[in-house]
Amino acid sequence: MIVLGIETSCDETSAAVVREGTVASNVISSHLVHARYGGVVPELASRAHQRLIIDVVDHALARAGVGKADLQGIAATHGPGLVGALLVGLNFGKALAYGLGVPFVGVNHMEGHLYSNFLVPDQPSYPFLCLVVSGGHTMIVHVTRPFRHAVLGQTRDDAAGEAFDKVAKMTGLGYPGGPAIDQQAKLGNPRAIDFPRALLHPASYDFSFSGIKTAVLYYLNDRGLMDVPPGPETSDRSWVPDVCASFQAAVVDVLVEKTIRAARETGVRDISLAGGVSANSQLRQDLADAARRIGCRIFSPPLEYCMDNGAMIGYVGWLKFARGITSPLDLEAVANLDIT
Ligand code: KG4
Ligand code: ZN
Repeated sequence: MIVLGIETSCDETSAAVVREGTVASNVISSHLVHARYGGVVPELASRAHQRLIIDVVDHALARAGVGKADLQGIAATHGPGLVGALLVGLNFGKALAYGLGVPFVGVNHMEGHLYSNFLVPDQPSYPFLCLVVSGGHTMIVHVTRPFRHAVLGQTRDDAAGEAFDKVAKMTGLGYPGGPAIDQQAKLGNPRAIDFPRALLHPASYDFSFSGIKTAVLYYLNDRGLMDVPPGPETSDRSWVPDVCASFQAAVVDVLVEKTIRAARETGVRDISLAGGVSANSQLRQDLADAARRIGCRIFSPPLEYCMDNGAMIGYVGWLKFARGITSPLDLEAVANLDIT
């Protein structure tokens, strides 16, 4: 079966062709317009999706060497995400399915992330844990078999990537700031500043990253380092690496601690990482080391499948079609769609 997957939940317009569960193409167009606002502006995201969707779909079909008439099913993200952004891909997908007379299915964006591990040959075995960390999500999910999963914990406030982006903004590193913090952290001392680790209740797998963000804000304010324009000629920026390294260590310590505890308590052998923050070098290193110590294997798809992408949506759509699952054409976009 040849399935077109469409993803427009946030600031990536993406489409992919998935043939019998294998990715034939995956085209991602990231909106750069948000950089100058220091975060995703919902209305600008919707407009960018509208501008890009036709070209992105055409590219995905061309790269896979298929025409619209070859498509046998259309899958599109219907939540969670920004409603105005979701509506673009969802309505496009529904209209295309209707026009072609093929089935349509709505896909939960988070399920897409969970099953992104199955887009590559090196796959975890069930049951496994998935740590989904991105600009919009932070959760530990126990996946026992296809479409059987339980959320063990999630963030109560900011997502991990959101914290990276906000701290990058405070330190003058631009947006999105995760990669810049990762780079700066390599030059700094992770023990230079003792930022708090919010472990919450010892038995909880939930996260909270707003406290660490505020701790960085106070640290910078107290030293008059906030809003200092970047550039060696205008100011001394020698403090940046230590702040980045110490902030990153605090976030990574909590992510690793909770994931490893969840692995121990559920008895899984395999742990997978998904979402844009899984590109973080410290997280990858520390989680791999900790997993090895308890005899677990780590899996992480390449970045094009870790970030928001149509391939993971097409793949979940294909799994659903194979089980005879389809959605009605009046399926709605749901901003806070649950994963269970
Ligand atoms: O999954 P993604 O592409 O989009 C969604 O948010 O859904 O994730 C983007 C997030 C941004 O917050 C970005 O700063 C963060 O992933 N990120 C990183 C790194 N690369 C991207 N955070 C930390 N370290 C990185 N190397
Ligand atoms: Zn995502």
